[in-house]
Amino acid sequence: MIINKPPMGWNSWNTFGTEINEAVIRETAEALISTGLKDAGYEYVVIDDCWSMRERDENGRIVENRELFPNGIKALSDYIHSLGLKFGMYSCAGYYTCAGYPASYDREFIDAETFADFGVDLLKYDFCCFPENSNPLYYYNRMGMALRATGRDIIFSACNWGLFESHKWMRSVGAHIYRSTGDIGERFSSVRDISMSQFDKLQYSAPGCYNDVDMLICGMDGVGNVGHPGLCGDTEYKTHFALWCMMGSPLMMGSDIRRIRPETLELLKNPGLLRINADPECRTPIIIESPRSPMVYTMFKHLSNNQVALGFFNYADKPGFGDICPHNIGLSINSGFGLKLTDVFTGETIEFMNDYIKAPLAPHDCKVFIGEYVEKN
Ligand code: GLA
Repeated sequence: MIINKPPMGWNSWNTFGTEINEAVIRETAEALISTGLKDAGYEYVVIDDCWSMRERDENGRIVENRELFPNGIKALSDYIHSLGLKFGMYSCAGYYTCAGYPASYDREFIDAETFADFGVDLLKYDFCCFPENSNPLYYYNRMGMALRATGRDIIFSACNWGLFESHKWMRSVGAHIYRSTGDIGERFSSVRDISMSQFDKLQYSAPGCYNDVDMLICGMDGVGNVGHPGLCGDTEYKTHFALWCMMGSPLMMGSDIRRIRPETLELLKNPGLLRINADPECRTPIIIESPRSPMVYTMFKHLSNNQVALGFFNYADKPGFGDICPHNIGLSINSGFGLKLTDVFTGETIEFMNDYIKAPLAPHDCKVFIGEYVEKN
């Protein structure tokens, strides 16, 4: 199976952590429909860690915890599919998951079969309790093979946090997306560190296998497993989401969709940003640090249909400005061309022909445009 855009959906971990159950997952799936998020493209509902019993059954199979999922995982999967959504689950390449539940080391084929029987469309595959003398490439490859051997189309969402230079080999082992960093927390410094750590690795992301910079924290509002009250507001969520879209990351929401605010919904459905994220060419952005405003970065990205994306991101904790002139991104004085830019947040258009753009930015804020080439007269 080839995927030609980063998957979009929701994952239970950021808000619910270990506190998952059937009702939460069903209600979230229903909320994806009622909020219009499904129509915007968010289609995967993913149960993260802590869904199983502590021991395998007598046949060596991992079994669901019936106290948490009284009707069983298969019934839940059927319900999610009946809503037109897709279903994802979680295991780990080590002996135990990160929360200490049985995982798939040396049981890859039997576990892949269990997931296929559940009707899973995506498997997130973590890296805790992995034996230090084992070779991660070999074991991720095994799960890649095991999933394919089931005959079902299952997205292999590998998650080894970028260790062992995984950007160089995750495509080879059959991963469709690969987590390239440690866990996100609801703080702007986490968004900054995660995104900056991938500036020199984004060229490894391409159709078929995308760099996954972790689940979204947009709209968590301080609630939940990785929530931190008071550290992020709508400006931070905006820049976080815009960066994930510019980097072409999977977009897995992590907030409680049942209680989502209109501002967060509007952001997560932003058509311009989603268009940039899903661009079929998946070009690596060219990233330039502003010479005059430290910690402000310009990202320029070729898009399909002869369009471009141009963004200014203020990583600093103080006001700054995006600042660039056409020749800095290749439109030389003699090119005869400029750009007509449309702001993805306000719809405002500006001409980018001969002059500098100087875009003032509040702390942690950003500005993103989609542009078209225009001839100068
Ligand atoms: C790791 C992963 C997280 C989450 C937890 C579950 O920390 O990186 O995304 O899956 O394990 O225990």
